[in-house]
Amino acid sequence: MARAGRAAQGQARRAARRLRYTPPTMTVQLEPSPAPAQAPVSRPRIFSGIQPSGIVHLGNDLGAIRNYVMLQYEYEAIYCIVDYHALTSTHDAEALRRRTREMAASLLALGLDPDRCTLFVQSHRPEHTELMWLLATVTPVSWLERTPTYKEKKQNQPDDVNHGLLTYPVLQAADIAIYKATKVPVGKDQAAHLELSREIVRAFNNRYGETFPEAEAVYTTAPVVLGTDGVKKMSKSVGNTIEILASPEEIRRQVMSMVTDTKRILRSDPGRPEVCNVCQMHRFFGDDWEEIQDGERSARTGCVDTKKLLAQRVIDHYAPARERYAELMAHPAEVDGVLEAGADRLRPLAQATMDEVRARMGLR
Ligand code: TYM
Repeated sequence: MARAGRAAQGQARRAARRLRYTPPTMTVQLEPSPAPAQAPVSRPRIFSGIQPSGIVHLGNDLGAIRNYVMLQYEYEAIYCIVDYHALTSTHDAEALRRRTREMAASLLALGLDPDRCTLFVQSHRPEHTELMWLLATVTPVSWLERTPTYKEKKQNQPDDVNHGLLTYPVLQAADIAIYKATKVPVGKDQAAHLELSREIVRAFNNRYGETFPEAEAVYTTAPVVLGTDGVKKMSKSVGNTIEILASPEEIRRQVMSMVTDTKRILRSDPGRPEVCNVCQMHRFFGDDWEEIQDGERSARTGCVDTKKLLAQRVIDHYAPARERYAELMAHPAEVDGVLEAGADRLRPLAQATMDEVRARMGLR
């Protein structure tokens, strides 16, 4: 066991060396500001999770992953690929395994550094599910039934309204609480889950004594990224995504399918960049976005020109990450080594919390 742990750590160190990554040049300054040169000794802890959905889209990156990358320099950062959560809608074992590795490679390619943060797979630390059960006993069913994502999922998969869909936010609360994280970088679509997590740990603390902090959400400057339809939030389940690590052709196809200002019918009509999703996205891919918006407003440029430019900028911006992703997927053992070492590193933390919680609840 110890030998296996040491081997995994050695592998992870080697992987970390290979994975040394220079993040793409940022076109927009996101809050909070980037890396101090020297990391402080004791840093506040943050946690976030992402589903192994098979693809990583622009909404994930602008809404959350950019913050994961930046915050790893300031905080003790723990990032989790939430395969237990994914089981509420993915039932194909091979697909889940493949997507989990793909998501890990995507996050590493986008700038997570295994020397700066801990990246792991949720099911590799099974304490999460034990804590979930314990937290479930302080969570009224009514809180879960009124969760917007539960109502949405019930509609999206009416033939598969499994119990996991209802309990989903309790597992999410356990993910954060087990490491006593105080901040959670997420997109705005996770606000209701985060609020529920706070309520759940508050209920636990009230019943059993102060144990868990109430974690706060941390948002980027793009907390809600709309999809190519320009109406709904970008999401794989809606099918309105721009897949940032896809081939340039695929990215171009997705960007060119974007709905712009629906009231701009003729090329000579003035556009409304404030409601045009393409114009809004330009904010994140160049310093000249005001000029671009002005071109639309004055009908100097057409929607097709603006989309072509955006497609090229997205392709260029993610080109280094796309290359890194291909390289990582060609060395799957390294990716797996990083995940294994991450889960090993978290064992003492997760076990210490569980010991405390069991004692408080009368289980030991
Ligand atoms: P998931 O996998 O749906 O999304 C991962 C992250 O991407 C953000 N995001 C977006 N942000 C802005 N605009 C969008 N269109 C957009 N789409 C996705 C999400 O807000 C999220 O930050 N339930 C979570 C996973 C989870 C988790 C956790 C998160 C499990 N446990 C504990 C935080 C803490 C989810 O399904 O994210």
